[in-house]
Amino acid sequence: MKIAVTGGAGFIGSNFIFHMLKAHPEDRVICLDKLTYAGNLSTLASVMDNPNFHFVKLDICDREGVYKLFEEEHPDMVVNFAAESHVDRSIENPEIFLQTNIIGTSVLMNACRKYGIQRYHQVSTDEVYGDLPLDRPNLFFTETTPIHTSSPYSSSKAGADLLVLAYHRTYGLPVTISRCSNNYGPYHFPEKLIPLMIINALHDKPLPVYGDGLNVRDWLYVEDHCRAIDLILQKGKVGEIYNVGGHNEMRNIDIVKLICKELGKPERLITHVTDRKGHDRRYAIDPTKIYNELEWLPETKFADGIKKTIKWYLENQEWWENIVNGEYQGYYERMYGRR
Ligand code: NAD
Ligand code: DAU
Repeated sequence: MKIAVTGGAGFIGSNFIFHMLKAHPEDRVICLDKLTYAGNLSTLASVMDNPNFHFVKLDICDREGVYKLFEEEHPDMVVNFAAESHVDRSIENPEIFLQTNIIGTSVLMNACRKYGIQRYHQVSTDEVYGDLPLDRPNLFFTETTPIHTSSPYSSSKAGADLLVLAYHRTYGLPVTISRCSNNYGPYHFPEKLIPLMIINALHDKPLPVYGDGLNVRDWLYVEDHCRAIDLILQKGKVGEIYNVGGHNEMRNIDIVKLICKELGKPERLITHVTDRKGHDRRYAIDPTKIYNELEWLPETKFADGIKKTIKWYLENQEWWENIVNGEYQGYYERMYGRR
């Protein structure tokens, strides 16, 4: 099997590549990545010499480049992770989100139609369902929950999902979609909650919690997400959507306090800052379908996963220092300077 993985130099895509090369050593993986601010070639250093791995620097919106790659490689499957993924950046500048997340997806699917494909898999998000209230803990997102987005990011992901489903119905493209909750683990870009708090705490810098910090996210260790996508590729039904999440809802403030405790840092570093515009209150996935149909269950408990993640950031300082010492400083100043 030849699998094209887009966005493989980012957080989840790279972890997926590591998983696939290990779990399916007979497969060939081709990574397509534009290497935006969020893509890092050093992340893929450990697999660069693997004869079953090939990296191509490519923008998924570049139709000619994508078609050329399909003509040369004829992938059997495409797994599309490539996206602008950060909600705060989408609030600052929505346009690139529409370009990559929607137009990029359409370019990939057109290539799949033109050259043929066994499976196109779209990596989507629970954010397409909008949010749930904090006072209704018995409500969860199922695959039939209406799409009801809040941010330019989630709207662009929802637009892509609708397009993927349309390509299935209209052209018979063999697609699947996964909608996962918040991931955490190694190679998570420092702008996101968990790595940002670990890195700031290590520097004894303020820990900027948006608003009251009571917003709830449903955290899943990244390897569990990668296993779920692998299972969907093997056994998932074409045309179907699968929610992925492990019933691990936590309030932001509790995550930040836990990180302080694990690192032996004082909670007085916690600073409440102006809330995110349109901030979703609570996400919570109902994973019944993927459990019943594909027997997927998460393997890593949060208490273990967060320890492993913190250890990884302590042992891989060079990886994140290269990021936070670069253009990230300008981003941080823009986002948090006068917040
Ligand atoms: P990320 O920002 O860490 O990585 C995105 C990668 O895509 C980067 O390597 C970047 O260079 C690449 N990319 C961006 N634009 C591109 C383009 N035009 N052409 C080619 N490559 C491009 O993102 P992530 O957190 O790893 O998320 C991966 C996917 O999973 C996204 O589609 C996201 O919506 C989805 N998702 C993420 C989470 C999460 O918690 N992080 C949860 C559910 C779903
Ligand atoms: O639910 C899946 C989604 O999870 C993915 O689709 C997105 O790509 C991914 O970025 C993530 O989105 P969130 O907005 O939930 O993640 P983020 O890490 O940006 O924020 C998590 C929560 O923490 C959110 O309620 C905002 C809050 N937060 C975040 C940052 C960066 C803070 O309080 N302070 C911060 O500095």
